[in-house]
Amino acid sequence: MRRHNKTLITAALPYANGQIHVGHLAGAYLPADIYHRYLLSKGDDSLFICGSDEYGIAITIKAEEAKRTPQEQVDHFHEINKKLFERMGIDFSHYSRTTLKHHAERTQQIFKEHLKNGWIEKKTIHQLYSPIEGRFLADRYVLGTCPKCGYHEARGDECTKCGASFEATDLLHPVSKMTKMPLELKETEHYFFRFDLFKERLKEWLETKSFKPSTMNFSRQYIEDLKPRCITRDLDWGVPLPIEGTKGKVLYVWYDAPIGYISATYDKNPQLVNDYWLDPKTRYVQFVGKDNTTFHSVLFPAMLMGQNTLYKLVDDLVVNEFLNLKGEKFSKSSGNSLDLEAMLKWISPDQLRFYLSLIAPEHQDCDFSFEDLVVRVNSELVGKLGNFIHRTLSFVQSRLGCVPLIKALEEEDKTFLKQIQTLLDEGAAHYENFSIKKATETLLEMAQLCNRYFDHQKPWSLVKEPSKADRLETILAVCIKAVQFLLAQMQPILPFATKEAWGFLGLSNTPSRNMATALEIKELRAPSPLFQKLELEIKEGKVSESSLSCNLDSLKNATILHPLETQSPMIEFADFEKIDLRVADVLDCIIVPKSDKLLQFTLDVGGSKRVILSGIRHFVADPASLIGKKVAIVANLKPRKMMGIESHGMILSVVENGTFEMLSFEKAPSGGKIS
Ligand code: 2FM
Ligand code: ZN
Repeated sequence: MRRHNKTLITAALPYANGQIHVGHLAGAYLPADIYHRYLLSKGDDSLFICGSDEYGIAITIKAEEAKRTPQEQVDHFHEINKKLFERMGIDFSHYSRTTLKHHAERTQQIFKEHLKNGWIEKKTIHQLYSPIEGRFLADRYVLGTCPKCGYHEARGDECTKCGASFEATDLLHPVSKMTKMPLELKETEHYFFRFDLFKERLKEWLETKSFKPSTMNFSRQYIEDLKPRCITRDLDWGVPLPIEGTKGKVLYVWYDAPIGYISATYDKNPQLVNDYWLDPKTRYVQFVGKDNTTFHSVLFPAMLMGQNTLYKLVDDLVVNEFLNLKGEKFSKSSGNSLDLEAMLKWISPDQLRFYLSLIAPEHQDCDFSFEDLVVRVNSELVGKLGNFIHRTLSFVQSRLGCVPLIKALEEEDKTFLKQIQTLLDEGAAHYENFSIKKATETLLEMAQLCNRYFDHQKPWSLVKEPSKADRLETILAVCIKAVQFLLAQMQPILPFATKEAWGFLGLSNTPSRNMATALEIKELRAPSPLFQKLELEIKEGKVSESSLSCNLDSLKNATILHPLETQSPMIEFADFEKIDLRVADVLDCIIVPKSDKLLQFTLDVGGSKRVILSGIRHFVADPASLIGKKVAIVANLKPRKMMGIESHGMILSVVENGTFEMLSFEKAPSGGKIS
């Protein structure tokens, strides 16, 4: 396991032009926060820096739409986002913003040094000029005729009709988006950063890194094609170019934004720049979504290499894939997004953190689904984790009324404690490797183990036998210890519930992950359940008011969960007869490797063997427990290949309101026809 004592963590600075949404959280902020909390819980020093990205055309456009000045726009959303992060428990050491004076000063100072060192050059280029407005227009302010398909309302950077992308100067008959008046090509001077001059240094540096293979490959390829990039814009919203006679030109937002990581650190405390950015012993970890990869793996490192001051380059770049909603990327502009504020009226921050951690888009894009969320929260967070903690604490409270002590450990207690310690160590390794998905799965495995121990020991029976009082106390003491193990693993993911549970254990300080130094429990307080079940009823695409205290606009198009009124059309008996429903004996049931959802069943159907895959893995804690069951299958479904395995049929089960049950029989013979 890697050990580092001083870590600097940054997460991509979100634009202050709208509210952060669930996709943003899953992509960068939640994984970064969990990692930061994990480091702190093992006693490391960690500084977690972020802030609003407040310049650039993305801001001015939204400000115009909202009829605000750019400053009003960023003031508005900086505050909103800061609060949303707080509510979600994203525990930044500091959340700054890029419109602060010292950020502009540092950016300008870095620019001047780049210029002096010969990394920046001036070029004369042709750009579209609006004589009426008296300014050059950025691509996004230009409309014109698409050079490819002739569509006459093509945007300055792409054609919304044929999808072609191009430069604004390629448009035929360009006009200003605001005045609709013609534009003309005019010479203008711009500054280009010579990224191409860093090619060899970047290549060498990149090979010393162990970013994910996809990040490595993407970055290698990008470096091969490195070209000088224009880092100035004709705009009045941005860090002014620190060169005389260039009024109206600002630095490109992607030049100033990453410098924001340094100025935000300075904003917390100037000394921290020396302590973290200038100390080679610091380990620097960045969390970003995949659309920000090259800026962090190539362009910002090149900018820092071009400085005489030796700022830390990124050591670990954690790039996450996208969280999708209905198969499409979360995007506020296209309306495919979930409003965090509305969500939080229905779901607690911990419940959302839990689900986002479980489906974390670490290696591939993944889909956010309300049905899945409800099932996972109810069956796993409430049913496994919350259940064990609550049943233990309330049992101790009601039956013992004091802190139980270990009298004599039996072999099975020792084995259990050893197993749970092993899982805690595994959980640590997952955090170290930035896999919050696996860390969460390990947490659930621990909870499962704990529940099994509790069920097996049957404290509710022992309580009736006075001669077993010592044994009962030992078991309960072991269970309380297990609660501490669980809390150690769950704290980075579920900070609010963990804090509440520490309260039940009478602990106020942050307990450590190290169980050897775990705080002794002196008193227990009356517990209450840590998590509530979620109810979600969506009828005809609308969230029903009865089950939710709010109406979530963003759920309007969610899949219908209870479509009873709008059920499938009536069918003839002959249609039903076409379905061959049979009883099947489960011979074996295993998890399909590398699949999140699938279980592979080997079944006996009236003497013949067949394999059926079923997407119910989330609901079945122990696949082997299904062996010997008699289940119902559709036997004449056309074979279908999934994960390279052919599935011959379908197993019938019910998933409703967070409960899962397979249709099964007691005595019916294998192969028996269900009618
Ligand atoms: O994509 C974005 O939301 C950008 N505002 C990220 C900037 S990251 C960093 F460089 F500041
Ligand atoms: Zn076109």
